[in-house]
Amino acid sequence: MSGDNRDVRSEAGSTETSEPATLSPDGAARRQFLVDAGALATGIAASKSLHAAQPQPNVALPVAAPPATSHVRLIVNGHTNELDLDPRVTLLDALRERLGLTGTKKGCDRGQCGACTVLVNGRRVNSCLTLALSHEGDEVLTIEGLASPGALHPMQAAFVSRDGYQCGYCTPGQICSAVALLDEARAGTASAVTRDVRKLGRASLSDEEIRERMSGNICRCGAYVNIVSAIRDVAGSG
Ligand code: FES
Ligand code: FES
Repeated sequence: MSGDNRDVRSEAGSTETSEPATLSPDGAARRQFLVDAGALATGIAASKSLHAAQPQPNVALPVAAPPATSHVRLIVNGHTNELDLDPRVTLLDALRERLGLTGTKKGCDRGQCGACTVLVNGRRVNSCLTLALSHEGDEVLTIEGLASPGALHPMQAAFVSRDGYQCGYCTPGQICSAVALLDEARAGTASAVTRDVRKLGRASLSDEEIRERMSGNICRCGAYVNIVSAIRDVAGSG
């Protein structure tokens, strides 16, 4: 390019081509705009850093009050426990964290796996889905309370003899659920696969019935075949 066509952008480090050195009125206005915008941005940054350097007033942050607790009397495995609990504590967490009964397992903590199954007044319950405070005076039975001193519960013994587990994580919930299942069948409670729901009296427990009635208890190891065998053994003997 000729000397007259000096590349003005090259002054600013740009590699683009090329405007005449003698700026048109539009070019001059744009250049002035860029200069002004740069000055404004620099001013804002300086003002922010000055502001940050100012000492801040000593403002006391609000401190969250500890949650109020409520008293509950939980009867677990025949023992009465007087507890002061945050009302949001689930029965599962009260058993595990406050009473040290860690046989009851936490799998999903949202009612999907059955690992936390315990018996409350003889009925099976997902203990992760119910608040401890709602069980004032209830009789809670966990896996630790099923066996008699020196003897396994028949359902525990059947799980052992049928090898109804692998890792064992789901097993306490499976066994509690299976114990309640037998009581439900004795009481004639129908399931989703019961052929004749008008039939009164004890429900017969086919493998299909056992599988359906145990469908809320998931076993990630897939020990289902042996679990059904164990339950069938005990159902057939009682
Ligand atoms: S932990 Fe309660 S259902 Fe999974
Ligand atoms: S034995 Fe492992 S999850 Fe059931």
